[in-house]
Amino acid sequence: MIIATTIAQVRAQVAAWKKEGLTVGLVPTMGYLHEGHASLVDEAVRQCDRVVASDFVNPTQFGPNEDLEAYPRDFDRDCALLEEHGCAMVFHPAVEEMYAPGAATYVEILSDMPKQLCGKTRPIHFRGVCTVVSKLFNIVTPDKAFFGQKDAQQLAIIRQMVRDLSYGIEIVGCPIVREADGLAKSSRNTYLSEAERQAALVLSESVFLGQKMVAEGETDANKIVAAMTEHIQAQPLAKIDYVSAVDGVTMDPVDQIAGTVLVAMAVYIGKTRLIDNFIVEGK
Ligand code: PAF
Repeated sequence: MIIATTIAQVRAQVAAWKKEGLTVGLVPTMGYLHEGHASLVDEAVRQCDRVVASDFVNPTQFGPNEDLEAYPRDFDRDCALLEEHGCAMVFHPAVEEMYAPGAATYVEILSDMPKQLCGKTRPIHFRGVCTVVSKLFNIVTPDKAFFGQKDAQQLAIIRQMVRDLSYGIEIVGCPIVREADGLAKSSRNTYLSEAERQAALVLSESVFLGQKMVAEGETDANKIVAAMTEHIQAQPLAKIDYVSAVDGVTMDPVDQIAGTVLVAMAVYIGKTRLIDNFIVEGK
């Protein structure tokens, strides 16, 4: 596997692959990889001739009081996982390589979409995500890019950005990968103490509860959200940021399960903010 740290290196390698007529897939990550990321690489390897993963903790998507400094990092372990799963090149730039001194241009969606859900408490987050993903698209020029459904709002926002800015890139959403007991895989799970790890199960339990209500025919989104909220509130270590049902494309709140609906949550377990969700294809 090639380890590239400069934009020029990535561009030269991708140009060589394209000259051979090979297709390129991109898996953007912030490192500290787990099976969720591995599943994105696996899907990219299935669909593309060469896979590039980026491994970059992007400062512009962290707010002033968020965990940028503490965000877990282990590049050697990441490389081993990526290589094992067939990644051809990892792009691991320094912050200055991605954001040269004086960088002042951002990509931002100006609708309400990035203000809903996670955007309510993380107001600059999606501007940072769109900016870095847009830069990665310009650097790697992939045919396809692979994102996890766990970050459902991020995935919807990237799809909107790709439409709005006419990127000729196919966005592939990949299913949430869970631990055996249901907890959605996340780099932030590593922050949890043993007691918190156990308490964190309320997220997936409430997802399964919501899915069961839908399967049993419940179409009132507010009743589903209320039942999920009640389940989470019964856990003393959990503090809800939001539990919401929104339109799966626009992220606007909905009252009924009709069309594509995203039921999503962010919950603090101790100091760690975790997210989970499920999508319903209503009638
Ligand atoms: O989902 C993530 O890990 C990040 O938001 C992404 C897409 C790699 C951009 O930094």
